[in-house]
Amino acid sequence: MSFKNTATHFGHISIFIHWLVALTVYGMFALGLWMVTLSYYDTWYHRAPEIHKSIGSLLFIIMVIRVIWRFISPPPKPLVNHRHFIRISSQLMQFTLYLALFGLLFTGYLISTAEGQPVSIFGWFDIPATLAGQGIQADTAGVIHLYLAWIIVVLSLLHGLAALKHHFIDRDITLKRMLGYKPN
Ligand code: HEM
Repeated sequence: MSFKNTATHFGHISIFIHWLVALTVYGMFALGLWMVTLSYYDTWYHRAPEIHKSIGSLLFIIMVIRVIWRFISPPPKPLVNHRHFIRISSQLMQFTLYLALFGLLFTGYLISTAEGQPVSIFGWFDIPATLAGQGIQADTAGVIHLYLAWIIVVLSLLHGLAALKHHFIDRDITLKRMLGYKPN
């Protein structure tokens, strides 16, 4: 298997980024839901949001790299047994996931910088606040952030179920391709 995608299979880089983002999204979803239940006196009260913000910002950088990589190395062609409806719906799902992920990361940034403070990435470097001071910015962005998180989790589970359906019922290589299987 090569680093780049070919017309028939996903390469190392796309596969690695796909599973890294998927695992990170589920982990961040759990972390996000948990951290808002913490009380002020909990030892994780400050630490958990710092980790959430740092990982979210790194995820944004990874997503930008992912989009650039899609242009450099386009994904493989759909399998021949995938009919028009399957091709269109899977592309629509992937596009929606990309869009929702960017929306999620951007609203996270808006919440974090609403008071004009930068986001510190594990103390390594800061991302400056640019759109701060828009009144109810944190509240509005917070509601959208939560809805988008749920939308992504539900849609990605449907997307995962579709991949399992291709694997176990249609018995094609849709899922195997995303696990590094290289057709002969
Ligand atoms: C948060 C979770 C997930 C997100 C955001 C996500 C997103 C995406 C995106 C954007 C693509 C298009 C290829 C690319 O750009 O790299 C893709 C492809 C794929 N994903 Fe996911 N995914 C997630 C979880 C899963 C899960 C849990 C499974 C399987 C159980 C899965 C199986 C696949 C497969 C098989 C493909 C290749 C489809 C094809 O060949 O057209 N994904 N995914």
